[in-house]
Amino acid sequence: EKGGYDYFMLKEIAEQPKAVADTLLGRIDAAGALSLDELRIPDAELRETDKVVIVACGTAFHAGLIAKYAIEHWTRIPCEVELASEFRYRDPILGARTLVVAISQSGETMDTLMALRHAREQGAKVLAICNTNGSTIPRESDAVLYTHAGPEVAVASTKAFLTQLVACYLVALYLGQVRGTKWGDEIHAVIRELARSAEKVERVLETMEPVRALARTLADKNTVLFLGRHVGYPVALEGALKLKELAYMHAEGFAAGELKHGPIALIEQDLPVVVVAPSPRGRSVLHDKIVSNIQEIRARGARTIVIAEEGDETVVPYADHLIRIPETPTLLQPLVATVPLQVFACELATARGNEVDQPRNLAKSVTVE
Ligand code: M6R
Repeated sequence: EKGGYDYFMLKEIAEQPKAVADTLLGRIDAAGALSLDELRIPDAELRETDKVVIVACGTAFHAGLIAKYAIEHWTRIPCEVELASEFRYRDPILGARTLVVAISQSGETMDTLMALRHAREQGAKVLAICNTNGSTIPRESDAVLYTHAGPEVAVASTKAFLTQLVACYLVALYLGQVRGTKWGDEIHAVIRELARSAEKVERVLETMEPVRALARTLADKNTVLFLGRHVGYPVALEGALKLKELAYMHAEGFAAGELKHGPIALIEQDLPVVVVAPSPRGRSVLHDKIVSNIQEIRARGARTIVIAEEGDETVVPYADHLIRIPETPTLLQPLVATVPLQVFACELATARGNEVDQPRNLAKSVTVE
C-alpha cells in the first residue's frame, strides 16, 4: 500500500503533482474561466461578501495564511486568518456578509469544527475546504470545495497542504471573477499558471537528491531557523512545523523583516538557516531586502540554505547551499517552495532514526480540544 516507498510520507510527497492536478480537474472551463458550481453559495451572495475569515489548525492554518495574500490581492475583500482554537473562544465580529472558510484535511478537527459552529451561530456563511468526503466539517458547512488529494496517511501533512493551497487560490480567483474586481488579464494569466503548477511540482521533485544529502549532514544539529517574506513567510512556518513534528528538532519560522527586531540575536556560527527567497520578478523590493538579510546572517556565521528561483543569480554569492525552484508568479510560489522543505524534514527524521509516518505524541486527526 506504500507503493514501493519506505514511508507513506514519501509516497504522498511523490503524489503531489497528481494531487494538484486532480484539485484543478474540471474546475477550469474551456474559456479559461473558473466554474465552481459545486460551491452552492449563489454568486449573488458571494458578490456581497464584505469579509473573509479563515479558520484552521496546523498546516491547514499555514495554507490559510497564504490564502490571505491571494484573496486580498485578487478580490480586495479584507481577509483575516485565525487559529481555530483561538477564534472559537473570542468574540469575533461576523455577520451575514462574512464568508468563513474552514480548512481541514481530515474534516474532523475538533477546534475547526467548533470554530465553524461558532461562526454559523452568528449568521456567517461557512465554506469548507476539505479532503475527506462526507466528514463532519463539510457536512456542517454551507458549502464545500473538496481538495481531491486522495487519502493522506502520514501524520505530517504534505499533499493535503498543496491541494489546500490550490483550493484557496480557486476560491480567491473565483471571488475575483464573480465580483469583477481586478478580473481580467491578471486573473486569466494566473489561472493559466495554476494549470501548469503540477508540472512544476514534478520538476522540483526530480531535483531533490541534493536536499536529502544536505539534510543528512545536519542530523546532529539542535536548531534550524526558517526565514521568508510575503507568502514565503507562511512557507517558512510550514518548513519549521514539518521539522518539529518529524525530526523533533527546535525549528522556528520568522518573517525576515522581523530579524532585526529580535531573532537575529539567535544567529551563531554554523546555525543552519533556511531562507525562502521571493520571486525576483515584479517584487524586486522584497527580493533585495531578503538578499541583505541573507548577507547579514551569513556575516554572523550562519550556514545559509537558500531556496530561490532558477535564474535568480543575486543570491548565489551568499548561499552556502542553493535549492532551485522553477519560476512561478509570486502568489503561487508556495506550491513549489514548500516541497523541498517537506523532503528536508522527512530526510532529517529518517537520519535521526525517527518514525516518519507516526511521529511521537501526534495523531493524524485531532478530535479533541
Ligand atoms: O485535518 P486537519 O487539516 O484539520 O488537521 C490540522 C492539523 O492538525 C494538521 O495540519 C497538523 O498540523 C499536521 N500534523 C501538520 O503536518
